[in-house]
Amino acid sequence: MIYLDNAATSWPKPEEVYSRADKVLRSAANPGRGGHRFSRQSAEALLLAREAMASFFSVPDSRQVIFTSGATHGLNMVLLGLPGVKRIISTGSEHNSIWRPLEFLRQHRDVEVEYVESGENLEDLKKSLARPADLVVVTHASNVTGHIYPLEEIVSQAHAAGALVLADVSQSAGVLPLDFVGIGLDFASFPGHKGLLGPPGSGGMYVRPGLELTPLMLGGTGANSHDPGPPPALPDRYESGTVNLSGIAGMAAGAEFLQNYGLDKVLSHELDLRRQAAQGLCGLGAQVYVPDGKTVGVLSFNLPGIDSGDVAGILDEVYGIAVRGGLHCSPRSHDALGTSHQGTVRISPGLFNSARDIDQLLTAVEEIIGQGRR
Ligand SMILES: Cc1ncc(COP(=O)(O)O)c(C=O)c1O
Repeated sequence: MIYLDNAATSWPKPEEVYSRADKVLRSAANPGRGGHRFSRQSAEALLLAREAMASFFSVPDSRQVIFTSGATHGLNMVLLGLPGVKRIISTGSEHNSIWRPLEFLRQHRDVEVEYVESGENLEDLKKSLARPADLVVVTHASNVTGHIYPLEEIVSQAHAAGALVLADVSQSAGVLPLDFVGIGLDFASFPGHKGLLGPPGSGGMYVRPGLELTPLMLGGTGANSHDPGPPPALPDRYESGTVNLSGIAGMAAGAEFLQNYGLDKVLSHELDLRRQAAQGLCGLGAQVYVPDGKTVGVLSFNLPGIDSGDVAGILDEVYGIAVRGGLHCSPRSHDALGTSHQGTVRISPGLFNSARDIDQLLTAVEEIIGQGRR
């Protein structure tokens, strides 16, 4: 199998991730739910993982890092839990984990939602911020084209207009250096299972000190059990129920692996493979969707006259190459690309891919095009 679908979930994981998740699972009890040594050991593993993730994202107080089941969970916690919201601004390239909660808020809570183009000059955003908004929610890097949005600039414009910012760093966490506090983010949501190289079902979110959300879930937290409401203190306030300890420990092992390896090396490797693929695909007559400006390793393309889903199916079944076809849960990005009817074939090389993998993809694509012509 040549795996080129790391934007969906990364594969394989570093050995350290498998072994940390396995080790924790073999001695895991319920952290914070008992005084026995297994429970204490689990609480210790959870704290170490929280500190590792806080260090990875330069968050001084690890209590501001809340563990979630993935990026969708954290995005929903903020979008549905931020009190008193009347108007939200978002961009045209959001994933359904943002678009669908926003449409829910519009339909059921009477929130005004405006979608703007967030090109490099941010003119639309500036215009839109001329009217008061409570929140700007933005994807840091597109999961369709790889385009990196100017997050720092967006934060500074939003804050100047009095709006909070929630960043979806699903495609940038583990690839671009991210200092949540330095960027000035109010909230961020990250998946553990993509660029952070952790297990599926892991992730987290950052909440800036002083900000408060209405928790999406209420339940046991292991402390203050007599109290009918959620505990005021973080992280417990937003972590009701038993956490995915082995997944979280695996994610932390992935983050530590990346810190030692160097994010700059990860990005340059993925961009080299992306460049090789883009040049090769263009040479074969594919339509390659290359946005202006900087990108992460994600690349979308289409072959003339063949549906993107069919191309992905042939690559898998005939050539053993895993890519993704279709809309990639981001329909609005395809409105902008003009690919809503057919979607795109997306490749997303990762740290463990090589130039040889891309050569094999190009050979396969050449054959598919040749067969289409016959
Ligand atoms: C940009 C973007 N946002 C959000 C998500 C949702 O992430 P998760 O599957 O961890 O909930 C994805 C995953 O594909 C994504 O690419």
